[in-house]
Amino acid sequence: MTKIGIIGGSGLDDPNLLHDARDVEVTTAYGSPSAPLKAGTIEGREVVLLARHGREHTIPPTYVNYRANIQALKDAGCTCILATTACGSLREEIDRGHLVILDQFIDFTRRRDVSFHETFAPHGAVHTGMAEPFDDGLRDLLNRACAKLGLTHHERGTVITIEGSRFSTRAESNMFRMWGADVINMSVAPECILANEAGLPYAAVAMSTDYDCWKTDEAPVTWEEILEVFKSNVEKVTSLLVETVRNID
Ligand code: ADE
Repeated sequence: MTKIGIIGGSGLDDPNLLHDARDVEVTTAYGSPSAPLKAGTIEGREVVLLARHGREHTIPPTYVNYRANIQALKDAGCTCILATTACGSLREEIDRGHLVILDQFIDFTRRRDVSFHETFAPHGAVHTGMAEPFDDGLRDLLNRACAKLGLTHHERGTVITIEGSRFSTRAESNMFRMWGADVINMSVAPECILANEAGLPYAAVAMSTDYDCWKTDEAPVTWEEILEVFKSNVEKVTSLLVETVRNID
């Protein structure tokens, strides 16, 4: 039986998104997740919502317990994960409010637990393949749902995840563009890595909220800008999630 985990920002912790919503307090072998899980149904499918940064958005990206979040969804019986994230655009053609269905990441984080495997005992070494980290079946559903709803979207894109909480310097932003990154955020790695290690198919939709700081004809990104653009486009993401969940097998 399919059960869908959804990891989102606090704007997505909307009780109206779920039918028969109830809070479930959980803890895991890796500690507590960012918030209680909110379990319910969307279009008759069982769904579990988790606010990545906590319900009040109090947990900075470095301090999110990504391992506990993924383990909590797995323990709750989730069979796949859809994640949402705001991102900065590193490409002219990815404008504010556009959605990007990510297909690759570059992990530029430095201070996070990036694996469940703290020891190889007792079963021997585990090294998880990461060539195609985002699940193609889920990505396909997200892309089809975007097309059906008429949402301006990019069918693929490479995200670079930085440590934060600061934004990038202009030199870094230009370097990331040269590396081939299309968008930038602070959370997809190690979340995506851990979902792969846990054997949970994972896909993420990134909403572009700003042009970071590489674009010298406009002011560098601010947190206030991200919040404003995200808020005024959040219903795109919720309608995309509903349409995608409806079509998951
Ligand atoms: N999230 C949204 N915009 C971002 C940016 N420019 N850098 C890092 N994370 C972001």
